Amino acid sequence: MFDLTGKTALVTGAGRGVGLGIARVLGRQGAALLINDLFEERALAACAQLSAEGLQASALPFDTTDYDAVSAAVEAAGRIDILVNNAGIPGREGMALQPFAETSPQQWRPMVNVNLYGTLNCSHAVLTGMRERGWGRIIVVSSDAGRVGTNAGVTLYGACKAAAVHFVRNLSQEVAASGITANAIALGPMDNLPEEIVEFVARGIPVPRTGSGDDAGSAIAYLASEEASWVTGQELPVNGGLSPS
Ligand SMILES: NC(=O)c1ccc[n+]([C@@H]2O[C@H](COP(=O)([O-])OP(=O)(O)OC[C@H]3O[C@@H](n4cnc5c(N)ncnc54)[C@H](O)[C@@H]3O)[C@@H](O)[C@H]2O)c1
Repeated sequence: MFDLTGKTALVTGAGRGVGLGIARVLGRQGAALLINDLFEERALAACAQLSAEGLQASALPFDTTDYDAVSAAVEAAGRIDILVNNAGIPGREGMALQPFAETSPQQWRPMVNVNLYGTLNCSHAVLTGMRERGWGRIIVVSSDAGRVGTNAGVTLYGACKAAAVHFVRNLSQEVAASGITANAIALGPMDNLPEEIVEFVARGIPVPRTGSGDDAGSAIAYLASEEASWVTGQELPVNGGLSPS
């Protein structure tokens, strides 16, 4: 597909789910992988899985919401060419698809911390090295909920995602002359949604299935590639044709 040999990719929240799928695709294109997760055992298990598949993966566990932890980990890693800001918590976790009026301010903070501050922290921490090397890729994993109105219960989640996308849109202008691009993908419903709703949501998608880690990873491999060096500040919907706009 796209040759990422010689590049090091940090994927946040890659201990499972979509992030693990993205890491796998980038690894298959030749990137050395840094597998981040909040839970060290998840990051280690993902690395063991990827290594068994012949990919080069090291665990880099930290909490993306903790700037000091992020910068210490990035410094220890030494070189990061591709950052995939994937760690995120959807509306269903912690807020159980509650309408916004029924949530409390105590529930808002973790949502904003992970879905927005996590991206700010990680992007800020990798920028100095990318600028020095004159090459970098910063990619946000967003959601259709951050692009269009999708369903009730994801109001704040979608707002955080939209903010993270707009952050990279504007960041792209600041870093373009340094060889760094900043883009986002907006995912539709993915395979790892609870089993009982996968079949139901798939019926409403023009390409009638939920998305896979390969779908997300393939789009990101393109955005991370040399071939996409003139593509920046963009949000690419990866959603089987759902919610066109
Ligand atoms: N699954 C979907 O249907 C879907 C749809 C649209 C967008 N997305 C986005 O895709 C991304 C991945 O979603 P997923 O479904 O794989 O989620 P998931 O919950 O299965 O996996 C997320 C991983 O991130 C880790 N994580 C959470 N907070 C963290 C933190 N502060 N620091 C480091 N790691 C942290 C978790 O431990 C977990 O292993 C998210 O940004 C999500 O918003 C998912």
